[in-house]
Amino acid sequence: MKLDLAILNLNSIVTPVAHGPVRGRDMARIECIKESNIGILDGKIEYVGPEIPVAEKYIDGRGLIAMPGFIDCHTLIPFTGNRSKEFLMRLEGRSYMDIMKAGGGIRSTTEAVRKAPATSLMAESSRFLDSMLSLGVTTVEGKSGYGLDRDGELKQLRVLEALDEIHPVDVFSTFLGAHALPREYSSKDEYLSSLIETFDEVHKLTDTIDIFCEDGVFNVDQSRRYMLAARDRGFRIRIHADELSSSGGGLLAVELGAVSADHLISADDATIKALAKSDTIATLLPGTSFFLNESFASGRELIDRGAIVAIASDFNPGSCNIYNPFIVMFLAVTRCGLKVEEAITAYTANAAAVLGAEDRKGLIREGYDADLVLLRAGDYSEVVYNFSRDIVSNVIKSGTVIG
Ligand code: NIG
Repeated sequence: MKLDLAILNLNSIVTPVAHGPVRGRDMARIECIKESNIGILDGKIEYVGPEIPVAEKYIDGRGLIAMPGFIDCHTLIPFTGNRSKEFLMRLEGRSYMDIMKAGGGIRSTTEAVRKAPATSLMAESSRFLDSMLSLGVTTVEGKSGYGLDRDGELKQLRVLEALDEIHPVDVFSTFLGAHALPREYSSKDEYLSSLIETFDEVHKLTDTIDIFCEDGVFNVDQSRRYMLAARDRGFRIRIHADELSSSGGGLLAVELGAVSADHLISADDATIKALAKSDTIATLLPGTSFFLNESFASGRELIDRGAIVAIASDFNPGSCNIYNPFIVMFLAVTRCGLKVEEAITAYTANAAAVLGAEDRKGLIREGYDADLVLLRAGDYSEVVYNFSRDIVSNVIKSGTVIG
């Protein structure tokens, strides 16, 4: 059979052994298949092995490592505007939460997103996706959360839907209406009730709901009521948990059987233990710790105790202006204590599981999406060691060579 594309004589193919969710010690189980070939047909991986497939097109893989395309399972795309002033305020000692309480932060991006036409949000986001794709990121999750009213939130979800259609990157969306209290409301309970009323419309655009559970934003009781309403309507649920304070979000995520608890910078011992025993994926966002100059989540401890850990960029205009997966993996390894192999699993197989796409994404295996990144590297440890160099040789998305 003639395939569409074959990548020949790869130095090695590096892939997690098992599809996500992979927990604890198994996260370090990476397969490294030396001197091998990949055949692609109709956007899927058709062959992995020593034979030379017959294909329409070939890539010379000598000197290259093939890895599954990176999956960024937590970003705040689409957004617009610039919060560099807040960045400078933080350098002068103001905290992220102080700035938010004073009406900046999420609310300031909300002003910009509400005013922006969907077309400009699309154009701006599309450029971010182009850059991410050039760095080997082939799947991206984006959230609403800068509309904070029905129209603004649905506009963001529609932009994500359209981006998924027009951009080569696969785009997954999450409803994060419960990201902050908008200026029109003084009661958080009333605001959350108003969001619950939009759930039927939201469900036409996404199957996943998230909340920012944090001291000063939405507390555990408010988050529980809201998330139970979401779960009852069949949504998958995720929680921004224990980011800036140990505020109970991680424990709530376990209690509710959430798909993921994200951030966890301030997760306490009880939370780490509970996550480790649960199926909730601990999604670490070390770029945020770095950008905010905060401490880092205890990745090593979570994995040693048996948790399922994913990592992602948290790319957004306020708390983490980073989308480069190499920087994020470098931080996961050097600051959160992950092994390189664990970081690879966390950015591929386990990130796919956060998005419910583990049956087709996150591995180099026959039948999986042909989403690949080819790296100029002798060994996979270079994804971290060479994090600031341009080691991406080619990106292949759904079987098409990009660029
Ligand atoms: O994940 N923590 C809440 N949401 C984002 C920050 C968004 C913003 O500051 O605009 C986060 O870090």
